[in-house]
Amino acid sequence: SKPLRLGIAGLGTVGVGVLRILRQQAALLEARTGCKMVVSAVSARTRNKDRGLSLSSYDWEDDPVKLATRDDVDVFVELMGGADGPAKAATEAALTAGKHVVTANKAMLALHGQALAEQAEAADVALRYEAAVAGGIPVIKTLMEGLAGNGITRIMGVMNGSCNYILTRMEDAGKSYQEIFAEADGLGYLEADPQLDVGGIDAAHKLAILSSIAFGTKIDFDGIQLEGIERIAIEDIRAAADMGYKIKLLGVTQMTGRGLEQRMMPCLVPQTSPLGQLDGGTNMVVIEGDAVGQIVLRGAGAGEGPTASAVMADVCDIARGLRGSVFGQPAATLEATTAASSQTP
Ligand code: NDP
Ligand code: HSE
Repeated sequence: SKPLRLGIAGLGTVGVGVLRILRQQAALLEARTGCKMVVSAVSARTRNKDRGLSLSSYDWEDDPVKLATRDDVDVFVELMGGADGPAKAATEAALTAGKHVVTANKAMLALHGQALAEQAEAADVALRYEAAVAGGIPVIKTLMEGLAGNGITRIMGVMNGSCNYILTRMEDAGKSYQEIFAEADGLGYLEADPQLDVGGIDAAHKLAILSSIAFGTKIDFDGIQLEGIERIAIEDIRAAADMGYKIKLLGVTQMTGRGLEQRMMPCLVPQTSPLGQLDGGTNMVVIEGDAVGQIVLRGAGAGEGPTASAVMADVCDIARGLRGSVFGQPAATLEATTAASSQTP
């Protein structure tokens, strides 16, 4: 069969991870998909930068929009980040040009997912985003494929590793939020704009995407009741521990009689529960289906290998010819949400 030709924009943590898998697992990928994968071109902001691997075998494009629309690109892989700017411009250009798109960009999907899904479905191309929610954990596939026969009743979980790291370290080290925030920042755990992490915004982006798939609703990021972890003091963590609890930045989405209820906020969870025992930068997503009962997914929510692993799952699906609707049912049929959260006392 014909090779699958990729154009990759963004050569940071995730982009480099994807190139590594493409090189190291070339034979495995071809055996599993029946398709040889080639990288037609790559793009990033700075051309001359040591990225820990040679780029000499790839064509270089300065402009991600040009990369996305090249004749020798079948799949545009967007790994630049940012809800707007070049990520959105290049994604839109790729879809308009009839290219499939794979992205890890939860911010872009949470804010523009509906329009992008409509565009992709009108062009009959795939728009895939497994890496956008909980990094290496295949939560999107689980919801859309493994649990396709279920009505989803509730999803909850810890979806931001940086916040989980900070809260865990505050308790273990007995240090203040400010001290541990500085430690996490120094270790490079936080987003370039740390407010996305500690303000709960990144986790809320992920929750908004999951809600849409689970309940057949249009993404409603603004409908999320949102509170970050910046106001958690070491005294709060100690008081929780005295009562047998831990504080976690917990996301919950469920359809109630009053509409869709989406919350992302610090919550008390029992120390002995699976969520209570979730340490460090790990993520956990708990899904409840009316037929299956409860499913618990746990693993690395970030990092080069885990996130690239999820990106490659999408690339492989496209190589196998899978398309499907972006959020599990045609974008035009997704319902507008009634946000119950704003009415919650
Ligand atoms: P990085 O900041 O490490 O890399 C971003 C890359 O995009 C860099 O190579 C940068 O170029 C390039 N870039 C930025 N702006 C432009 C531009 N205007 N034109 C061309 N290239 C540009 O990000 P990550 O790899 O960490 O993240 C990529 C995406 O994956 C984001 O959407 C992120 O939210 C998502 N994600 C990341 C995870 C992680 O663990 N890191 C986990 C899950 C999702 P240059 O290198 O030259 O500066
Ligand atoms: N900043 C995010 C986190 C990266 O800490 O979980 C992965 O989405």
